Amino acid sequence: MTNIVSPSILSADFANLEHDIKRVEDAGAQWLHIDVMDGHFVPNITIGVPVVASIRKITKLCLDVHLMIENPEKYIEPFANAGADILTFHYEAAKDVTELIKLIKSYNVKVGMSIKPKTPYDVVLPYLNDLNLVLVMTVEPGFGGQKFMADCAEKIPLIKEKAHKDLIIQVDGGINAETARICTSFGANSLVAGNYIYKSDDIASAVKSLF
Ligand code: DX5
Ligand code: ZN
Repeated sequence: MTNIVSPSILSADFANLEHDIKRVEDAGAQWLHIDVMDGHFVPNITIGVPVVASIRKITKLCLDVHLMIENPEKYIEPFANAGADILTFHYEAAKDVTELIKLIKSYNVKVGMSIKPKTPYDVVLPYLNDLNLVLVMTVEPGFGGQKFMADCAEKIPLIKEKAHKDLIIQVDGGINAETARICTSFGANSLVAGNYIYKSDDIASAVKSLF
């Protein structure tokens, strides 16, 4: 089965974003991973609503928006209106998970929930039936280019075992061809990769190595 590859533009050249998006699109990536960071939930600040709206105009790729922000409920409407196809919030930032899932679905956007490395896998179990995607972080969120934490990947089969058949299990952080194989063997089917793709000499081959 083909994996869903979601290149993270965090590692792209922000001055040449359209070009860098087209390169992964041409290589066959199905999604585009957009890391939104607020300087509070994580110590870094990255991309906001206007950038997502501009990206929407230049690509048909599925916009996979990873919200690493506090008070995510405040920003669901603006990101949905900007053209996000998937909104993934962090369990650790949600005040009321059930309400947040409902809110995201009310905009006809697919809903994902992410867990940080130190968060136990079982927090996702009560919500699995309502989620389209679970994102298992394999680094501490905040920065690209960090080392894959293998023990985090062990959460994947535990989630997979309880999941409905359409649940997408995504991994993010330190993914390359080798770590991707570890994650897919555990049951992940969506792979986020930033540095591995964008810092490669051959972006197309890097994308293709993850299918
Ligand atoms: C990290 C972000 C990732 C990041 C991954 O907090 O969520 O999406 O871009 O970068 P790499 O693939 O370089 O670890
Ligand atoms: Zn991410």
